[in-house]
Parts: sequence; structure tokens; C-alpha cells
Amino acid sequence: MSTLLLNKIDDVKSNIKNWKKDNLTIGLVPTMGALHRGHASLIKRAKEMCNKVIVSVFVNPIQFGPNEDYDKYPRTMEADKKICEELGVDIVFAPAPSEMYGQGGKLSNNELTFVCPPYNLTDCLCGKSRIGHFDGVATVVMKLFNITTPDFAFFGQKDAQQLFILKRMVKDLNINLTIIPCPIVREDDGLALSSRNSYLSKEERTWALSISKSLKEIEKLYKQGITDCSILFDTALSILDKNLEIEYIEFRNFDTFEEVKTAANNTLAAMAVKAGKTRLIDNIILV
Ligand code: PAJ
Repeated sequence: MSTLLLNKIDDVKSNIKNWKKDNLTIGLVPTMGALHRGHASLIKRAKEMCNKVIVSVFVNPIQFGPNEDYDKYPRTMEADKKICEELGVDIVFAPAPSEMYGQGGKLSNNELTFVCPPYNLTDCLCGKSRIGHFDGVATVVMKLFNITTPDFAFFGQKDAQQLFILKRMVKDLNINLTIIPCPIVREDDGLALSSRNSYLSKEERTWALSISKSLKEIEKLYKQGITDCSILFDTALSILDKNLEIEYIEFRNFDTFEEVKTAANNTLAAMAVKAGKTRLIDNIILV
């Protein structure tokens, strides 16, 4: 079966209706496109676990702030479709914003029902600078869940806060599916793959290498028995390239999302930095 490229919600629903009749399990991989090996790893996992796989490609306007990169976000539909075909994806769902949010583009919570994750999960890390971002993510993902009714949905640990929030949404709203977390895929030199890496100049990319280096050093020290987060923080700070603008380096318990002063197994060490105009995030879970 070849990959179907569908733009309409009703078309997706009618395909799914047939799959459900045959008791087939459905996997959903939500993306904003510009697919890379990180996305591909999620799709491969979905193919392993499910009879049918849907990849959504949708640059979701309601998760971008007014001064963010919604307009310039890379859109590479042809290449994305090809990757999905090669990986044996059944449906690529690529709706227009009007299909998701109505003709006039109901983009604010004055006009649209939003899903708002708990404040203590959004008032930290990326949520501090990206006001409303996770409301936009939770809302679109909830819509994608309702449209595709998957048994399993696949998300990368690259966006650890997003993963945590969506797992919580599934639990709090009794959504009948299982979220499958997938490990971070990196370049050989350590840089975590991201659609936004295409914005980086050669020089900025060199600076960005210090991000994964600093996380690796945190991991190394933790394995040597150093658990004081202020020491781990200072170590990361000393390794991060001085040309990077540091937004945050935080340590959180990845079971509760509470900030920790002493690292332990399952502590999330996460950071966001800017290389020039490009905002990059990365993290590691200590074990
Ligand atoms: P996007 O940035 O396209 O990412 C889609 C999925 O791919 C996310 O679950 C993300 O964590 C995962 N991913 C990205 N880079 C990865 C890497 N290097 N290794 C492993 N997984 C990686 O995240 C979004 O889109 C959006 O917020 C979305 C959930 C689709 C809602 O609009």
C-alpha cells in the first residue's frame, strides 16, 4: 500500500473507520514536518508496534508566539512525503491551518477551546519564555488524538517538557491511548537533530556543539557520584560556548517535574540556549 497524503479531517476519519472495523492498531506520530532522522526514529518505532501508522505534518500556528519563527519555519512537504513513503507510513495528514482552526483562523483562546496544562508544568523551562506555547501544543495534540484515535502516540524525549505535559494530559483527561517516549537522535558530533538546525550558520553550529558536550559532562560527573546540582550547573556553564546566550539550565525530577537541588536517577537536566537568533534545546536524563 502506498502512502496517502490527506489534507481533510473527514478523509482521515473515513480511512480510520475501515481500519477499526478490521481491529488494526493505529500509531500516530505528530510532527511539524521538515522531517529528519529524529522524526524517522519515531516513525520506525510506530511501524514496529502498530498495524497502521499516521504521521501528521502541521506547523501549528497556535503554539508559536508573536515574535517566533512561524512564518520562516521550514516547510518541506515533498521531501517529507518521500521519507514517509520510504518508511511505509500509511497516511500523512497535512491539514491547512483553516482545516484545523476554521476559515477565519480562530487562533486565540477568545475564540477557540484550548487545553491548558497545569501551571506548575508550564511555568518553567521553555514555558517561561514561550508564554502559551504548551497550551497550543496540548490543544493541537488533543485535536490530532481525536481525529486519528490512535492506540499509541510517539513523542521524542528531545522535547522533554512537551513529553511530560502530554503524558499528564493523557492521564488527567482519561484519553484512551498510550504515549511512547523515544530517545533523542543526535548527529555523530553530538548535536541533537532539530528542524531548526537548518537556521544555523557554520559558526553557530560550532558553538552549538558545546550544548551536548556540557550535558555529557554533567552525565559523567553524576556517574562519578557528584549530585550537587549547583556543581553540575557550574560545570555546564563553563563548557557552554561563550557566544551562546543561555536561557536556562534546569534540573527536574522526571517523575514529578519538581526542581531538584540534588540529582538522582531520573533527574532531567535540560537547557535552552540561543545561537545567534536560533533557539536550541537539549537535555539528558540521568541514570
Ligand atoms: P516537531 O518539532 O516536528 O517534533 C515532532 C516529534 O519529533 C516530537 O515528539 C519531538 O520530540 C520529536 N523529535 C524532534 N527531534 C528529535 C530528535 N533529535 N530525536 C528524537 N525525537 C525528536 O514537537 C513538535 O513537532 C510539535 O510540538 C508537535 C508535538 C507536533 C505539536 O505541534
